[in-house]
Amino acid sequence: MKILVTGGAGYIGSHTCVELLNAGYDIVVLDNLYNSSEKCLDAVKELTGRDFPFYKVDMLDKDAMEQVFKENEIDSVIHFAGLKAVGESTKIPITYYHNNITGTLHLLQLMEKYGVNNIVFSSSATVYGMPKTVPITEDFPLSTTNPYGSTKLFIEQILKDAQAANNKLSVTLLRYFNPIGANKSGKMGEDPKGIPNNLLPYVAQVAVGKLEKVHVFGSDYPTPDGTGVRDYIHVVDLALGHLKALEKKSNVPGVHIYNLGTGNGYSVLQIIAAFSKACGKEIPYQIDGRRPGDIAECYADPTKARDELGWTAERDIDEMCEDSWRWQSTHPNGFEG
Ligand code: NAD
Ligand code: UD1
Repeated sequence: MKILVTGGAGYIGSHTCVELLNAGYDIVVLDNLYNSSEKCLDAVKELTGRDFPFYKVDMLDKDAMEQVFKENEIDSVIHFAGLKAVGESTKIPITYYHNNITGTLHLLQLMEKYGVNNIVFSSSATVYGMPKTVPITEDFPLSTTNPYGSTKLFIEQILKDAQAANNKLSVTLLRYFNPIGANKSGKMGEDPKGIPNNLLPYVAQVAVGKLEKVHVFGSDYPTPDGTGVRDYIHVVDLALGHLKALEKKSNVPGVHIYNLGTGNGYSVLQIIAAFSKACGKEIPYQIDGRRPGDIAECYADPTKARDELGWTAERDIDEMCEDSWRWQSTHPNGFEG
């Protein structure tokens, strides 16, 4: 089975490529390298001992993308490619809508033309907006608070409409919670450009001495220690969720929606403590005000993925931090460093 992985040089895509190759799938990777490095794909090849075609192609260039479909017999697509920074999306919303939505429309046009009927899409817990309660199940009301989130919600709708019009299409929407961690080898991991927005890479860069201290955004939330609670999930568990989705839902027409989370919530201070244990260093932090748009608590009810896909996240918070630290400490400047 040959899988086209869009955004396959990125953080989650590259970890998924490793698991796909190890499980015996053939892959084709498409990425414009806007937020990633080709060196990451070298690591994928080294770790798996397998080669695969890579196309440095922008999904906005439909003709270039068509070459990929012409030259490869694709059975399924896993669609990771997209811009993902929430703050940036509020500053350049049109760029976000154009990149994420137009890119997806091109992909769907080509899938239709070349008779490819399976797609797994990277959605996000962001589509639950400001959930009224936790844990979150897949049938919670959907809304968004920023243009990035809107692209996810709109693409979910586009895929639902495409499925309604083509009863051969299998669409799987995977709503990720907070992916962290790295491949055990320490050879691949998250490599954010500039100062990280997300908590874990920020903490990791403080631990390695690149940043001075963690700014904790708010300590007055209605949570056990007052700081924000999230469902952190090991990126390898997340990657394996994609394999389960392919295994169970390929060629099963319909729209299949799953939360990929652990079902456990950890606070900012618990994450700092877990990372400190993993790296054996004190991590300096200071309590600041809340970050606008943040919610107190967000964690998944992952029961549906367990029951229908046979998937459960297995790696705990200590393993997530240890694996992140192995990558960060050996690659303080990421792939290009
Ligand atoms: P990432 O930025 O590391 O990977 C995305 C990849 O897509 C990058 O390699 C980038 O170069 C590529 N890309 C972007 N626009 C492209 C285009 N027009 N043409 C070709 N390639 C393009 O991000 P990630 O963390 O690996 O996220 C993967 C997907 O999962 C994204 O769709 C993201 O929105 C979604 N997601 C991520 C998180 C998270 O916390 N990381 C959470 C929920 C959902
Ligand atoms: C962010 C995105 C969300 C996306 C999710 C997963 C925002 C507003 N939301 O959510 O759309 O789906 O990532 O990629 O960016 N924190 C600090 N200090 C920091 C950074 C974060 O205290 O320097 C806190 C936050 O307030 C939050 C927690 O750490 O309580 C996690 O933050 P983050 O990693 O940014 O993820 P989310 O807020 O869940």
